[in-house]
Amino acid sequence: MLARLRENLSTVIRGKEEAINQLLVALLADGHVLIEDVPGTGKTTLAKALAVSLAARFSRIQFTPDLLPTDIVGGMIYSAANGSFTFRPGPIFAHIVLADEINRASPRTQSALLEAMGERQVTTEGETRPMSLPFLVLATQNPVEYNGTYPLPEAQLDRFCLRLSLGYPDHAHELQMLNDQTSVRPLDALQPVMDTDALAQVQRAVREVGVEASVLDYIVRLVARTRQDARLRLGASPRGSLDLRRCAQAAAFLAGRDAVRPDDVQNQAVPVLAHRLMADVKARHSGLTGEAVVREVLRTEPVPA
Ligand SMILES: Nc1ncnc2c1ncn2[C@@H]1O[C@H](COP(=O)(O)OP(=O)(O)OP(=O)(O)O)[C@@H](O)[C@H]1O
Ligand SMILES: [Mg+2]
Repeated sequence: MLARLRENLSTVIRGKEEAINQLLVALLADGHVLIEDVPGTGKTTLAKALAVSLAARFSRIQFTPDLLPTDIVGGMIYSAANGSFTFRPGPIFAHIVLADEINRASPRTQSALLEAMGERQVTTEGETRPMSLPFLVLATQNPVEYNGTYPLPEAQLDRFCLRLSLGYPDHAHELQMLNDQTSVRPLDALQPVMDTDALAQVQRAVREVGVEASVLDYIVRLVARTRQDARLRLGASPRGSLDLRRCAQAAAFLAGRDAVRPDDVQNQAVPVLAHRLMADVKARHSGLTGEAVVREVLRTEPVPA
């Protein structure tokens, strides 16, 4: 099933096996994904391909500056028939939510996603409503330095399990893309290969993947190093440690193993931790990125045998 899912995604997005694997890691880890890249690199296409590959309730929210919180979570509407107000659920009540160009909406609207992403529930009009599970937000955005964007607040970034980027395809894959899309788009021909019950079952199996005490200790040491770094205003959170453990388990599972190796943790450290780190103003101006800090920590922190 997972092989067919991978196959589906790679017929639509060419030459991006690593990004596709990362997306599958997040799916199995039951974590929200932020896909960040320059325009036209296939972000929306990849997110849609995943959504149609799963037989699940899917909705797409196009973020714009005038989008309101109620456009996401829903609101009370008056029904003339029975003379009362009833709740009409917004597009967030789906299994897979594509939050497209998330940094184009105002911070108030972005934060309407917060509770849903973190707590898997929504509170409106004093009432709390649970999301249907599995619940996965796939958000896309262009890099923050682009015009007309509101950068996501740190609290919002921390709720993304991992961040991935696609980058340009190489020459051969770009040619292949041109040939694929002569008349129709391969995306329109995709068929679902997995339903939500099967997905929930795989996610449960991932939680059973073994992690030795020394590897857990390694995760905690890596995360702690980001908190001690004087150039950072904000290090990785405890939620970051949990996500790193879960993604390492998912990566091991995808590789067909039943135990996590230290290199699973190393491979997941940049996608899971880098976007949570905030450099202070001085370090940022000298070009320091979260990714560089994580790579430095990986180079210098002792690896368990
Ligand atoms: N690596 C790739 N393989 C196959 N097709 C690709 C690849 N990269 C981009 N494309 C194609 O480019 C087109 C634009 O992709 P898409 O709309 O997903 O980009 P985007 O990253 O969401 O852009 P924007 O930031 O403007 O929203 C699509 O037809 C998509 O199939
Ligand atoms: Mg797009």
